[in-house]
Amino acid sequence: MSEPTVVHANSREPSFADWMRGVQAQLEAALARNLPPGEAIPGRLHQAMRYASLDGGKRVRPLLVFAAGDLTDAARERLELAASAVELIHSYSLVHDDLPCMDDDVLRRGRPTCHVEYDEATALLVGDSLQSLAFELLAREDFGDGARQLEMVRLLARASGSCGMAGGQSIDLESVGKTLNQPELELMHALKTGALIRAAVILGALCGTPLSTTEREALDRFAKRAGLLFQVVDDILDCTASTATLGKTAGKDAATEKPTYVSLLGLERARELAADLRAQALQALNLFGERSQRLVELTDFITRRKF
Ligand code: IPE
Ligand code: IPE
Ligand code: MG
Ligand code: MG
Ligand code: MG
Repeated sequence: MSEPTVVHANSREPSFADWMRGVQAQLEAALARNLPPGEAIPGRLHQAMRYASLDGGKRVRPLLVFAAGDLTDAARERLELAASAVELIHSYSLVHDDLPCMDDDVLRRGRPTCHVEYDEATALLVGDSLQSLAFELLAREDFGDGARQLEMVRLLARASGSCGMAGGQSIDLESVGKTLNQPELELMHALKTGALIRAAVILGALCGTPLSTTEREALDRFAKRAGLLFQVVDDILDCTASTATLGKTAGKDAATEKPTYVSLLGLERARELAADLRAQALQALNLFGERSQRLVELTDFITRRKF
């Protein structure tokens, strides 16, 4: 006779660590498959695109896509395409963020930045090409739902452009050497980092059965808080962690006079703010019950991360 199955009310298999490794591996394989091969002409550009997007990063945005997909029973194939699209936009934003005309960084994900390893013009084109590939993947015919896809394309485009990530980057550059007040800083962070995190969450949910209006509003509340939390923690890590741990140059924000939550509030209050944002994010998930377990775990991962 077989053993009776024991169902644990509040825990899901696999563990969070195993689930995370599984999603990261699936994403890595999908990106490796969907990026043009390094031998395809123009080889140097394709090699640089692969250099900038493969084998590195925490893959937080793809993890959010998959975790949000749990709320709506989304199919893995759709989640894989949506997660790849968001991560390609994110990787492009990092390549451009590191350019000499922006943050002028030489280290990213523990390796020389794209323009250092290749050259500036190639890094510029890598960003352009990763962005286009993101939308190509999201528009693929095997996704299987045209109207839904159109909504997702629009959402990702808006989150990436001048009213989202690129707009936030513009405010970031204009703000060097200035003191922003808290609402101004919040707007900059909500755009430069928050918009893509928010898009990742909503895109994940859109891969499955539709949410009710109340559920969608709650999920969006969560996504906004989680996006801001992510950049507050990034600001804290910039001045508390080492270059070796971060895989990018530590202490950059203070050295280049960037307004951050740490420069505005000090370290202690920035940490308190992170704790408040975590609590607000988790509260927004309450109505989803157990379906939001992975999002809850990810919120803690984002709060406690060391790099
Ligand atoms: C760093 O993002 C840049 C910000 C938006 C704050 P991540 O910390 O997600 O970078 P990777 O992808 O893990 O390298
Ligand atoms: C980067 O913010 C945000 C984007 C890339 C859109 P930062 O400039 O703080 O990111 P890091 O610290 O270089 O990763
Ligand atoms: Mg920057
Ligand atoms: Mg930077
Ligand atoms: Mg930073």
